[in-house]
Formats: sequence, structure tokens, C-alpha cells
Amino acid sequence: MLPLLSSVLLLFLTLSQNVSGASNQIIQKRSSNQVYDQIFFSNVGFNGYYSPVTSLGDNDTCSCEIGDNVYFSGTNSPLNEPVSVHFRGPLILHKFAYYTSDNFIINEDNSSDWTRDAYFDAASSAAENVTFLTKAGDSSACLGKALTYADSDGISSATSNTLLGNGTLITSDQEYVIFSNISCSKSGFDNDCGVYRDGIPAYHGYYGTTKMFLFEFEMPTETQKNSSSFSYYDMPAIWLLNANIPRTSQYPGSVNCSCWASGCGEFDIFEVMNGTQDRKSTRLNSSHTVVSRMPSSA
Ligand SMILES: *[C@@H]1O[C@H](CO)[C@@H](O)[C@H](O)[C@H]1NC(C)=O
Ligand SMILES: *[C@@H]1O[C@H](CO)[C@@H](O)[C@H](O)[C@H]1NC(C)=O
Ligand SMILES: *[C@@H]1O[C@H](CO)[C@@H](O)[C@H](O)[C@H]1NC(C)=O
Ligand SMILES: *[C@@H]1O[C@H](CO)[C@@H](O)[C@H](O)[C@H]1NC(C)=O
Ligand SMILES: *[C@@H]1O[C@H](CO)[C@@H](O)[C@H](O)[C@H]1NC(C)=O
Ligand SMILES: *[C@@H]1O[C@H](CO)[C@@H](O)[C@H](O)[C@H]1NC(C)=O
Ligand SMILES: *[C@@H]1O[C@H](CO)[C@@H](O)[C@H](O)[C@H]1NC(C)=O
Ligand SMILES: *[C@@H]1O[C@H](CO)[C@@H](O)[C@H](O)[C@H]1NC(C)=O
Ligand SMILES: *[C@@H]1O[C@H](CO)[C@@H](O)[C@H](O)[C@H]1NC(C)=O
Repeated sequence: MLPLLSSVLLLFLTLSQNVSGASNQIIQKRSSNQVYDQIFFSNVGFNGYYSPVTSLGDNDTCSCEIGDNVYFSGTNSPLNEPVSVHFRGPLILHKFAYYTSDNFIINEDNSSDWTRDAYFDAASSAAENVTFLTKAGDSSACLGKALTYADSDGISSATSNTLLGNGTLITSDQEYVIFSNISCSKSGFDNDCGVYRDGIPAYHGYYGTTKMFLFEFEMPTETQKNSSSFSYYDMPAIWLLNANIPRTSQYPGSVNCSCWASGCGEFDIFEVMNGTQDRKSTRLNSSHTVVSRMPSSA
């Protein structure tokens, strides 16, 4: 891994308003040590639709059912829907925060009126409105591993909401997710969180058309040498998903078992891409784009 990822990075993501066709640019790249101060994303959001899950299949048949198309449009859609925040190692998360604004307009300094609605600081064990979950639950051939509360190591199962430990390093392939601390009512198509997998701790994602996520983290180079044993060796990432996705299945055995493939929303904020120089990407895919504004992967 290039040295740029071994330093502490602070990344600001502002899903800006009134734009379409995602693009991003790096601001203030310091050439000497390749540390990025900021990555700026604009033109997020498009019009399209996805297929919501109405029932989840069993382990064997994996026949998940989908409902009528959900159409989305307007600013930042479909990421104006609630999102969960995902982390893959090698990574150490020091701080995380989520802000919303009702009236922020990009490039107008006087329009920002941000409220902090979630916060995590590993060094001081401070946390507001965060729930750390990980895939340490039951294994299903159809739905993959179920979510559980994450223990302080980020990857083991805990019995209740537990804070990530100070300085916790997750390694290649290891992942955890942050949701809000607002519990979902029971699984059901017409309920607040839609259909979700049996037995998981189910929480709402982070709401808001205009939201800002702040991260302070490290992505140290993987030290394990058995690279071929991993799916994502030395490829750390931080990304957003429509919160419906992980509550059903993040890596399903059938496309109908989550709304991911039909395009309910993923945003790859910061991801190490093998063989690419800048090691960042955006992906906001829908296989059902109504207006043809499909962003290209960076
Ligand atoms: C906000 O700033 C813009 C320029 O960026 C200016 O045109 C506008 O009048 C200001 N609005 C208020 C309410 O101060
Ligand atoms: C968290 O880790 C940092 C770096 O190792 C250390 O300086 C700090 O004292 C730790 N905080 C706590 C509460 O242990
Ligand atoms: C959720 O977090 C908020 C902010 O820290 C706190 O006031 C509230 O009590 C928490 N709710 C639950 C159910 O933990
Ligand atoms: C479901 O599938 C997983 C993975 O193939 C397997 O380990 C598990 O035993 C199965 N569970 C049931 C109840 O069949
Ligand atoms: C926690 O996050 C949820 C989801 O965005 C939000 O609705 C709620 O207001 C937040 N809670 C606090 C105390 O800010
Ligand atoms: C890679 O090797 C380490 C020992 O160096 C071992 O602990 C680990 O389980 C291996 N990882 C995989 C995915 O096989
Ligand atoms: C997904 O659901 C649609 C609509 O019910 C169905 O036509 C399609 O065959 C399903 N796909 C899979 C892979 O099950
Ligand atoms: C990453 O790139 C190297 C060198 O091009 C290649 O050998 C390796 O297979 C690639 N790994 C993945 C996961 O694509
Ligand atoms: C995402 O969009 C690209 C470009 O249109 C396409 O090649 C790719 O197959 C899409 N991926 C998914 C999972 O829909």
C-alpha cells in the first residue's frame, strides 16, 4: 500500500445540493508525503428506482420476493434515504461524526446551519447516537452472515450495544457498520425499516437529504503476508449504503435479497482500489436510472 494511507486522514463528505452526476476531486494534495487533506464530492444524486425486498428466502431456496418499484428523485437521491456507514480494514477509526443541515448551499458560507446528530471519539469513549454492528451472526448460504452487535474489537459478537475500543485495528476483509441508536420496529414491508433479517439488532440509518460525515481514521498497511487468503487484501474502505441493504443482506446469494443490485444506493467515500493511483472512488449505481446521468466510477 502506498504511504498516503498510513497517516491520519480527516475526510469531509458533504452531499451537496442541487446537483446531478457524481464527481469528486481532491483538494490540497500534499505532494511530498501524499497526504490528502480533503476529498470533495459534488454532483451526487439522480432519478431512478429500485426494488424493495418484501420477504427474505430461506437458507436453501434463497427465493426473496420484491415489491413494486420505489422511485426516487431530487437532491442526493437515493442517498437522501437513511444510510449506514461501513468500514473495512486495515483500518483504525478514531473519530466519527454525522451532521445535518436544512439550509446548506454549497459555496455560500452564510447558509450553513449544521447540527451534530451523532458522534464517536474512541480516545475518550464518547458516543452519541451510534451503534456498532458487525457480521458475526448466523451464517446463511442465501443471506451471508447476520449482523450482531460488535464487541469492542469491532468484529466479534456482543450481546448489547458496545463501543469500539480505542485504537482498534481491523485487518483486511474485516468490517463493521455504524447505524444510529434508534431501534427499528418489527420487520415488515410497511414498517419504518422495511423487511429485515430475523434476529438481527435492527437500527435506523442516518437520515437527511443534506448530511455531512466526518471521519478521523488510519489505514495502515496490512502486515499479514498471506494475501491470497483474503478477498480484499490491503484494500481498506469507508462507504455508505442505503441502510436497508445490510439489514437484509450485504452480500446476498440472490439479487432480490437486498435492494443493492436494483440500485437503492451505495456511495464509496474512500476506498483503496487495486492498481489505481489515487485510491479513491465513488460509486452511486442504479441499474434503473430514469434520467441518463450515470456517474462513472473513479
Ligand atoms: C449569503 O451570501 C451570499 C453570497 O455568498 C449573498 O449573495 C447573500 O445575500 C447572503 N445572504 C444572507 C442572508 O446574508
Ligand atoms: C487512546 O489511545 C491513544 C493512542 O494510543 C492514547 O494516547 C490515549 O490515551 C488512549 N485513550 C484512552 C482513554 O485510553
Ligand atoms: C441515543 O443517543 C442519544 C444521543 O446520545 C441519547 O440521548 C439517547 O438516549 C440514545 N438512545 C438510546 C436508546 O440509546
Ligand atoms: C445455512 O447455510 C449456512 C452456510 O451454508 C450453513 O452453515 C448453515 O448450517 C445453514 N443453516 C441452516 C439452518 O440450514
Ligand atoms: C440520531 O440519528 C437519527 C437518524 O438520522 C436521527 O433521526 C436522530 O435525530 C439522531 N438523534 C440525535 C439525538 O441526534
Ligand atoms: C493469514 O495468516 C495469519 C498468520 O500469519 C493467520 O492468523 C490468518 O488467519 C491468515 N488469514 C487468512 C484469511 O487465512
Ligand atoms: C427477482 O424477482 C423478480 C420479480 O419477482 C423475478 O422475476 C426474478 O426472477 C427474481 N430473480 C431472481 C434471481 O430470483
Ligand atoms: C492487484 O494488483 C496486482 C498487481 O497488478 C495483482 O497481481 C493482483 O492480483 C491484484 N489483486 C486484486 C485483488 O485485484
Ligand atoms: C454500475 O454501473 C456501471 C456503469 O454503468 C456498470 O458497468 C456496472 O455493471 C454497474 N454495477 C452494478 C452492480 O449495477
